[in-house]
Amino acid sequence: MAFSEEFLEELSRRNDIVDVVSAYVPLTKRSGSNQFGLCPFHGEKTPSFSVNTDKQIYHCFGCGKGGGVINFIMEIENLSFPDAVRFLARRAGMAVPEDDHDPDRGKRARMLELNREAARYFHAQLMAPTGAPAQEYVRRRGIVSMVKPFGLGYAPEGWQNLTDAMTAKGYTRQELIDAGLARVGRNGGLYDYFRGRLMFPVIDVRGSVIGFSGRILSDGEPKYLNSPDTLVYSKSRSLFALNLAKKSKSGYILLAEGNIDVVSLHQAGFDSAVASLGTSLTPDQARLMSRYTTEVIIAYDADAAGQKAAQRAIGILQPLDMKIKVLKIPGAKDPDEFIQQNGPTAFRELIERSGNQIEYRLEQTAAQFDLGTDEGRVGYLKAAGKLIASLPGSVEREIYGIRAAEKAGVSKDAFLGEVARVRRQNAAAARKQRDREATAPLRAAQPQSRELRFENVRSAMAEEGVLNLLCRFPEQFGSLPLAGADFTSPALGGLYEAVMARVRQGRSVSMAALSQQFSPEELTLLAGILQHDEISAAAAQQAMGDYIDKIRAERDKAARADDLRGYAEKLKQTKGYGS
Ligand code: GTP
Ligand code: MN
Repeated sequence: MAFSEEFLEELSRRNDIVDVVSAYVPLTKRSGSNQFGLCPFHGEKTPSFSVNTDKQIYHCFGCGKGGGVINFIMEIENLSFPDAVRFLARRAGMAVPEDDHDPDRGKRARMLELNREAARYFHAQLMAPTGAPAQEYVRRRGIVSMVKPFGLGYAPEGWQNLTDAMTAKGYTRQELIDAGLARVGRNGGLYDYFRGRLMFPVIDVRGSVIGFSGRILSDGEPKYLNSPDTLVYSKSRSLFALNLAKKSKSGYILLAEGNIDVVSLHQAGFDSAVASLGTSLTPDQARLMSRYTTEVIIAYDADAAGQKAAQRAIGILQPLDMKIKVLKIPGAKDPDEFIQQNGPTAFRELIERSGNQIEYRLEQTAAQFDLGTDEGRVGYLKAAGKLIASLPGSVEREIYGIRAAEKAGVSKDAFLGEVARVRRQNAAAARKQRDREATAPLRAAQPQSRELRFENVRSAMAEEGVLNLLCRFPEQFGSLPLAGADFTSPALGGLYEAVMARVRQGRSVSMAALSQQFSPEELTLLAGILQHDEISAAAAQQAMGDYIDKIRAERDKAARADDLRGYAEKLKQTKGYGS
């Protein structure tokens, strides 16, 4: 989905970065047009996170994160670019231009509206006198204070309450059926799908109501009724309460089975609880979680079925390289009951005591090999070594390493040696990956000389200077005797090319206008560069000339060095042939 630049500029104008950031970060210090606060992206005690009103950028001097207002929302709300744009549009009360390519787009938008209206209706019913049975129920379950944050509601008894209310608002029969809110009865009339139930709206990470779960208030069957999959709802790809859990600072996601468990956990202060929606965990749901966390703590029901489901969930989470823990809930059937009986502190202790899955996984690994044979032991050594190498703590590695070594009947030193080898290998691979990413955008223009790539600080500083002046005073630099290929840093060269092209076309180079064209990493780089404003408009021409001279001088120096190296190489080869 591409947005027009005019729209993005307007969006930024109506979402002043200082206002937007202030809602998340108290800005306590001011220095010129910069305001400072504690960085929300890394832990710190003194403010190094700056927001600049004039430039409409943020930049953290501590962790280096930065960009425009859209990047800020992407980062802090964990949203994709288009979703961050929609988020800000909603904040400013702006309509988002529709994407014409999607034929279902209008229908989808309409269905989301209907769902939102229905959620409002259910919520109002819960608060009204008609909602007495549901009010009594939430009181009994001890989740009254969660009614608002979860938008809980009540679908009253009766066959056409919601249908009538939504029809009055102009929704058609077909729309109600398509949204899974009503069905066609034998007489051809519509009836409400949800009746006499406590309603849990399912809200996606963008904040849209995509479906509902309804729990019966008494002991009847079925206990839960879920919206069918629709144009906007896929149960296997959604997680209940992820809209709330994604904002948690806990560092993990708590995965429970029941909706009530989730609500009850949030009430007890565990704000990262989610549940899969009446299905066992799917790979899509696991991937969804992995976008928001690197650790999942499974808190399923204590019964055999729950434990079996937990093992299945581990199998689905494992390939995603997430840290996995499984809670054993003693003396209660599920997290909700445990908390009602023992309180939040006891539950927190369960979390802290819970082992990571390493022991379980070691068992599983051992079972795959015949440890009575040499081949089996070698296979186990390798597999277990890999597993233990992935543990972050060295004490943990030592403890489990010794245990695994004993099991395989090899010496502790041999085993820990294997673990160290795998870790070196992993570290080297990670380093290589980082290098690849850093040089990815413009590999073709990357100078051949290796030193130049990473080490020419003098040139890189001048290159940043060029970008700084070009973005701050585009009107002064309609053309420059400099190409992206002249830059020693491919990332800076790429930015320069793109910014220069825009300047030549007389297009805006504001953060908002650039936000769609550049990756968050590139915008971070740019925001860091734009922080500097030592050079005034009056001095810009002179400074630009100096920068360009510097870049050229460094380039020529490097070329001479390359020539010499090539010459030396040739000499060596000729000698080789000669002797
Ligand atoms: P309480 O028994 O009230 O504590 O409810 P709970 O939310 O803990 O539910 P339970 O542990 O019985 O079930 C776990 C989850 O399985 C529920 O949240 C539902 O998503 C799903 N589930 C349970 N019963 C049904 C059912 O009858 N139909 C469907 N489709 N899903 C169900
Ligand atoms: Mn329960």
